[in-house]
Parts: sequence; C-alpha cells; structure tokens
Amino acid sequence: LLLAILNSPASADGPICPQTETLSRASFPKGFLFGTASAAFQVEGAVEEACRGPSVWDIYCRKYAFRCSGDNGDVATDFYHRYKEDIKLMKNLNSDAFRLSISWSRIFPHGRKEKGVSKAGVQFYHDLIDELIKNDLTPLVTVFHWDTPSDLEDEYGGFLSQNIVKDFMEYAEFVFNEYGDKVKNWVTFNEPWVFSRAGYDEGKKAPGRCSKYQNEFCDDGRSGYEAYLVSHNLLISHAEAVYIFRNKCEKCKGGKIGIAHSPAWFEPHDFNDAQDGASIERSLDFMMGWHLDTTMFGDYPQRMKDVVGHRLPRFSREQMAKLKNSADFVGINYYSSRFSNYVEKPDPSKPSWMQDALTTWEEKNVFGVSIGSKPTTGALEVYSRGLRKLLKYIKDKYNNPEIVITENGYGEHLEDKDSVELGTKDYNRRIYLMRHLLSLHEAICEDGVNVTSYFHWALTDNFEWQNGYKHRFGLYYIDYKNNLTRHEKESAKYYKHFLSQGTPPS
Ligand code: NOJ
Repeated sequence: LLLAILNSPASADGPICPQTETLSRASFPKGFLFGTASAAFQVEGAVEEACRGPSVWDIYCRKYAFRCSGDNGDVATDFYHRYKEDIKLMKNLNSDAFRLSISWSRIFPHGRKEKGVSKAGVQFYHDLIDELIKNDLTPLVTVFHWDTPSDLEDEYGGFLSQNIVKDFMEYAEFVFNEYGDKVKNWVTFNEPWVFSRAGYDEGKKAPGRCSKYQNEFCDDGRSGYEAYLVSHNLLISHAEAVYIFRNKCEKCKGGKIGIAHSPAWFEPHDFNDAQDGASIERSLDFMMGWHLDTTMFGDYPQRMKDVVGHRLPRFSREQMAKLKNSADFVGINYYSSRFSNYVEKPDPSKPSWMQDALTTWEEKNVFGVSIGSKPTTGALEVYSRGLRKLLKYIKDKYNNPEIVITENGYGEHLEDKDSVELGTKDYNRRIYLMRHLLSLHEAICEDGVNVTSYFHWALTDNFEWQNGYKHRFGLYYIDYKNNLTRHEKESAKYYKHFLSQGTPPS
C-alpha cells in the first residue's frame, strides 16, 4: 500500500511518478535526465582555428553585418577553449546531460572528406565528449544546427540542391563512426521549420533568401517554393542518415536518434469561432507536421499537400519507406504559444508558407500568465500550459512516442541597462523555468506523456543568430565586455536547487 501511494502511475501504461510535497527532480520518473543545451556556432568561436572552414553563418554575418545585429561568431563565448570551465557550471547545476552540436566545417573544412579532414577538429569533439562523460554528463549530439559548410553553399546551393544528401550522409556516417561508442543520443537536424522558413522564405537567417515576401532583411523576392525544396532535401538527408545509423554503424548499436522540432502550441484567435478552432490543426500541420508527420508516417500532412500543390515536392516510394518511423524519439524545442486565426484568402503581405497555411499566427498580450515582463526575443508570450497541451497532442496523434524536450528557454534583451548586476537578477527566467517544469510534470504524471529528458536553452548566454549577443537566453550571464566571464543568474540557482533534491540517474 505504501508503495502504491509513493508511486502513483500516470495511467495504466504511463510513467511512474513519485509523490512529493514540492516540485523537484524527485517528483519525476526514475531515470529522467535534466540538462542544458547549446549549438556549435553560437558558443564555440575559434572560427579559424585548427583548419576549420567557414560556414554560411560566418559569411552571412560578414557580408551583411546588420542581419546579425553587427555581431558574428568569431569569438562567441569561447566555448572551444573554455568548455572545461563550462562543464564545471553544468556540474554546479547538478545537471545530468548536455546537448551540443558538431560543426560540419570543423570536421570537413570544405564540406567533403576527399577535400580534407581536420584532425584537430575531430579531436576537439572527442575531448569535449570525454570530459562530459568523465563528469557523468550524458551527451546529446546534434549533427546539424544550421551551419552548412560555405563551400557546399557556393558549389551547388547547399540544401537547395539534392547534392546535399550524399554529402550529409558522408558527414553523418563519419561522426557516427567516430563518436558512436561514446554518444548514445543523437539529433540529425535542429529545427527544420526554422531553418528552411527563416533561411529561404523570410530571409531572416543564413543564407538569407526570400520568397516574394519582403522585409527589412531582404528585398530580393524569389519563388514561393524554396523552403519546401530545402526541407525536402533535408528530410531525405535525415532518413538516409538514420538508415546509416541503424544499419551501417556498429558502434551506434543501442543508440537513439531523432529530429529537434520547433512547434508552438496554438489557441483559437477567437474562442467562439469554429473556423479559428479548426485552423489550429492546420497551423500545427505547417509548423510541426511538415517534418514530424513525414518522419513518423512517411509523408507530408494531407492538408499541406492539398494547399501547397505542385510546389511541395513528392517523395518516391523508397524515400517514404525510409522516412516512415525514422525517429526513435520526438525532439521538441518549446518556447511559446500563439493564436491561430483562420483566413479565407492568402495574405500576399505574408511569407509564402504562411499564405499557404491560410492562417495568421498572432502573439497578443492578453495571453498567458503575467510574469512581470514580456520576453522580447521574437516577442514570444509566456504560456507554460501550452507545453502540456502540445505534449498531449503529440502523444495522441503520433501513437505515444518517446519525447525529449531538446530546448525550452526564455530570451531577454536588456537594452542599454544590460549589466552583470541586472542580467543575473533574471527573476522572469526563473519563473518561466519553474512554470514550464510544472507543466512538463503535469504532462508526464497526469496525462501519461512519455517524456524522458529536458534540456534548458541555454547553459550560458550566446550568439542569438540575427539578434547577435543582445538577446540573452543563458542560466549563466556572459560578460562580453569583461573577458567573457560567467556569472550565475537567479534562474541557475533555482535549477540547481530543483536538481539537488532526489537522486540523479546513475
Ligand atoms: C532555437 C534554436 O535551436 C537555437 O539555436 C536558438 O538560439 C533558440 N531557439 C533561441 O531562439
């Protein structure tokens, strides 16, 4: 009886959740991993060291400084040299895991093996992974977090061309064989929706291509299909890499692999409007199903095919077979929620993908909990309940898959008040973290969703793409003006306390 009280299962076949008085690591199922996340270009710096070749982001920030807020990745947080110091921060948090990405052009400086392998680059990731393991931190490695080798972009247009598939396969196979005995958890691609839409439709991220939609970043509108083409090539590359991981990499046996998706949750713009309610599914199809249905069921969502028509490329039978069930877990980067508003006719002032979705997605102030201030990055609203709803939706629609929260975090722009003093008093981030951990706990323990780990974005502040270093997401503050010193924020203190209770997984 006592055991039954202590261990209350969420559902007959769901996870076992211990009952605790306050929320902490001890309230989560045994073996649940808590960690922090990063990505190579955002933290490493050392862009010219050890023969690293340039990626599209190096070129983009050099060519159009304003598109990176006048910043670049040359030094970043100097993680390349300071990773041992940062691993101490991870230990200080009592965390169990760390998500990193490998920079393709640090391994193959020119994108392909025949053009040279950087031994020092390969060694860097060995050293980093070894140091994590020595410190009982489980690595989760992303193979591609947006930094296409510049030579491949110049040669054939990177992900716009099918040539990328062969080159990505070679790169993925190389890193699987190199690190597969040490790394058991892998993500092939980070946020395909952001990569293709922001890079090839809205032009807000490298390589900065736009559809007919134009904005301050780009005035050279092109087709309305590039993002679809890029995602298509990316999805085929994913399926081929997973095939290699499962069938051609001895060292990878027993490992798991997935994609990190970036969905928001949606609420109807007008709660009394049935069409707005129905548009939620459409919004989710475009924001998540585009890449998630494909890797679960083997093809794009029907609603997408109906609307996008001939601009959406088709998979061959063989490709569909490889795509189906090509993820061992669903990676979710959850930040915020939006209102979904049904529109009858596409709005030509919107980017192509949004015209196709026949919705507009609004972020309004009335939404979410008031936590004192609105995070400025991407003008995202805080809505932790959206995380729980999204996870339940995924459980129901995709047959209860394993889910990993590959990112969740709070961005802020402190503007001219930015200082160590103010930056470390990040009470908003602390509350954001608390609320999302609570919502996650409800999803697991009340709805029986099979989530197995949580990675907070980010360990430290870092290079936030088009927003440069001005937008901060870290649990640790980086003093860019003073030798990149790291400072513990209030949010880090909370996470540390949360993780200090209960037993870390052995
Ligand atoms: C998603 C991306 O994966 C990451 O690179 C970015 O910094 C965070 N979200 C915050 O915007």
